[in-house]
Amino acid sequence: MNVLVVGGNGREHTLVWKIDQSPLVDRVYCVPGNAGIAELAECRSMPWEDNFDQLADFAESVKIDLTVVGPEAPLANGIVDAFQERGLRVFGPNRNAAVLEASKDFAKNLMVENGIPTAAHRTFRNPYEAIAYIKEVDSPVFVKAVGLAAGKGAVAGRTVEAAIQAVKTIMIDREFDDAGDQVVIEEELIGEEASFFVFTDGSYCLPLASSQDHKMSLDGDQGKNTGGMGAYSPAPVITPELQDYVMRRIVHPTINGMNSQGRIFKGVLYVGLMVTDDGPKVVEFNCRFGDPEAQVLLPRMETDLVPVLESCVDGTLAGVDVTWKPGSAVCVVMASGGYPDAYEKGKVISGLNDANALKDVAVFHAATKAQNGQTVTDGGRILGVTALASDLESAVGRAYQGISEIHFDQAHFRTDIGYRALARTT
Ligand code: AMP
Ligand code: GLY
Repeated sequence: MNVLVVGGNGREHTLVWKIDQSPLVDRVYCVPGNAGIAELAECRSMPWEDNFDQLADFAESVKIDLTVVGPEAPLANGIVDAFQERGLRVFGPNRNAAVLEASKDFAKNLMVENGIPTAAHRTFRNPYEAIAYIKEVDSPVFVKAVGLAAGKGAVAGRTVEAAIQAVKTIMIDREFDDAGDQVVIEEELIGEEASFFVFTDGSYCLPLASSQDHKMSLDGDQGKNTGGMGAYSPAPVITPELQDYVMRRIVHPTINGMNSQGRIFKGVLYVGLMVTDDGPKVVEFNCRFGDPEAQVLLPRMETDLVPVLESCVDGTLAGVDVTWKPGSAVCVVMASGGYPDAYEKGKVISGLNDANALKDVAVFHAATKAQNGQTVTDGGRILGVTALASDLESAVGRAYQGISEIHFDQAHFRTDIGYRALARTT
C-alpha cells in the first residue's frame, strides 16, 4: 500500500520513519516534508493546511491507500472531511471532532458537562471583563487564547499584573490573531505534567506508553512556553493505577461526551495532564500525536503502526494490542537561538551522519531544508535527537552524545531533559 503523511515537523519525520518500516507499505509520500523526511519519502510542496483540493488530487493520482495527518491545523480545517468526501481513507478526527483542540472553550465545557477533572475556568469575549475577573480572583491563573496558537497561546499569570498583561497581549495586541477573540482564564494547577495518548476508533480506546515533554525553553523549566524542547518515555509519574484512573475518569467520558454530541473522535487523543495532589486533571486536549512526544513513543513501539492506524479509521480497534520496547527513550530538541521569539534561518547543519551512526540514536528533522547540497535550518525547532537505552539515564547520555555531534550557528537546546524522572529513579 501507499501512505501519505501530511506535515513537515519532527512528529511527521518520526511517523514516516515508523510507517516506512511496515512490511505492508510500498511507498511513503509526504507533503510538505523536510530535508530528513526526503531521505525516506517522496516529498511534494503544495497547500496542505487549509485547502485540500490539490492534496486530494495528488493522493488520488499516486494511489494513496491511507493518509496520516500530523498537525492540528489541517484537522481543525476539515482535511478528514474533504478526503472522506472523495472516498480517501484518512487517519485523524474530522472537523467536528477536532474542535476538542481547536476551541479551548468547547473543551472546557465538555469537561464540565461530563464531570472530567480540570482547572476551574471562565471564558471572556471582552478584555475589560476578563481584567475585572482577574482582579476579583487575585490568585495565580493561566490566560489562554481560545483558538489554535501553535502551543504558545497559554500564558502564566502568577500575579494580577502578569495576568492582565497576558489578556492585553492576546486580546488587544492580538498576538495570536483570531485565536485570541476570546480567552479562557483558569486556576493554576500545581503538580507534575504528563502527556497521555490513546488511539481510538471513536468507541474503543487503546492507551499508548506514557511520556512527558518539556515545554519551557530553558533549563529548570524557566523561560517561555514552546512547542516542546524534549521528551521521554515512559514517564514514571504515570503509574498503572493512575493510567486506570485516567482511562476511567477522563478518556472514556471524553469520547462518550463527544459521541453524545455526534462528534465521533477517531485518531489519536492527546490528554495533557497535571498530576496534582488531588489526582490527575486535564490541562488541555489535542487531537493528534504530540511533538516531540511522538519522537519517543513511536521508536518505542514494537508493533507495526500501520494496521493500528487502519483499525482506528475502520472502527475495528477492539482487540488490537500494541507492545512497547522495554527501557527508555529520550528526545532532545535542538532549536534556533532566540526560539520561541525571533530567530534566523539558513544556518548550515553539520554532524547529522555522525549522530545518526551512534547505536540506537535517530535524528528526526523538524525545520530543515536542503540547499546547495547542504542541510540548513528553516524554522524554530530544528531537529530532535532520540536515543533508546535500557534505562533512562543511559538514554539521556546517549541523546546528548548525539547532540554533541551536531552543530549549527546559535543552536539552542536544554541540558536537563528527563530531570524529573531521573530524580525519581536515583
Ligand atoms: P496549553 O496550551 O493549554 O497546553 O498550556 C500550555 C502549558 O501551560 C501546559 O503544558 C502547562 O505547562 C501550562 N498550563 C496551562 N494551563 C495550566 C494550568 N491551569 N495550571 C498550570 N499550568 C498550566
Ligand atoms: N508537545 C506538545 C504538543 O505537541 O502540543
